Amino acid sequence: MRLFPTETGHWLALRGLQAGLGPRERTNDLPALAQPLFGLHFANPVCVSAGFDKNAVAISGVARLGGGFIEVGGVTPRPQPGNPRPRLFRLTPDRAAINRMGFNNDGAKAVRERLSEYRAGTDMAQPLGVNMAANATSSDPAQDFVDLVKAFSAVADYLTIDVSCPNTENGQIFLEPRALEDLLARLNTARDETGSRPAMVAKLTPDLDPAHLRELIGIIMAAGIDGITLCNTTTARPATLQSPNASERGGLSGTPLFEMSNAILRTVFEQTGGKVPLIGVGGIMSGADAYTKIRAGASLVQFYTGMVYGGPGLVQEIKRDLATFLARDGFANIAEAVGSEHRS
Ligand SMILES: Cc1cc2nc3c(=O)[nH]c(=O)nc-3n(C[C@H](O)[C@H](O)[C@H](O)COP(=O)(O)O)c2cc1C
Repeated sequence: MRLFPTETGHWLALRGLQAGLGPRERTNDLPALAQPLFGLHFANPVCVSAGFDKNAVAISGVARLGGGFIEVGGVTPRPQPGNPRPRLFRLTPDRAAINRMGFNNDGAKAVRERLSEYRAGTDMAQPLGVNMAANATSSDPAQDFVDLVKAFSAVADYLTIDVSCPNTENGQIFLEPRALEDLLARLNTARDETGSRPAMVAKLTPDLDPAHLRELIGIIMAAGIDGITLCNTTTARPATLQSPNASERGGLSGTPLFEMSNAILRTVFEQTGGKVPLIGVGGIMSGADAYTKIRAGASLVQFYTGMVYGGPGLVQEIKRDLATFLARDGFANIAEAVGSEHRS
């Protein structure tokens, strides 16, 4: 896939999974990798992160890769084309990517239909999340999120409120504390009105100063949000980057994001006292990277850029290595290892 232009490679990978290439069936996970969270059973803590299967077109194939949960999206209420191409760039020497996709997606109606169809026809029981975003040209982005909660509450186990996208007009307006507070209150009400109770997870950017981050985490906790995903891509450009593509506009992901995302994970774990489950994302390329995030405070882990460089076998590799690390360090299960770095 790496021989093709980046977005074409991604498209081919999705089509391949959709067509049944990749693993034929899911293998059972070791009990040590399992944990209950949000009232759901996670057979393992690994997941391909948002943006990979935005439109839920390859959901069965993604499920068969063996992750413990699935996240589709980002989905906006109405379909939108995203930004002009090229908008996805590999930074090969840096094991990184820059994207400014701008939430290209088929819209809530189409994605909801695919999810309903998948749910009706599958015996795979991984928790299923929908990553939600406002339309780029929306005049009422908060209402967009409300509409998405209404559209997806009945078909999703959890909903990610993505307030961290650096690539669209409305992507980060809810980083303003009062705007976030209002949004979360409206979404709690909207969810209650649906009669379903998917967990709600907020996804943040690493590009926040410590006081701002602290304030937002306080608001998220006060609103009773079930989990926090740390983090989305960064607009920072570390001086170490080698690739000529480093000057492209957009969000940087992959290895250069690893330490940055671990730092925010540690900070938030400390502030929340480990009481809010955290999903660690950013620069995971190996089982050792995933384990570092778990020890830093992540209950669950996700990766995207690792798929670009490591291929879909990375899910199985991470699970195998996590089991080895748990046994080596004397942890009976993942839950015991979560945040253990803060106790040692
Ligand atoms: C091409 C691409 C598209 C993405 N789209 C989304 C998205 O729609 N919603 C979202 O919350 N994150 C999106 N992300 C961010 C990833 O989910 C993840 O947070 C980020 O890439 C950092 O993880 P990584 O270093 O493992 O790639 C996207 C990332 C990439 C590379």
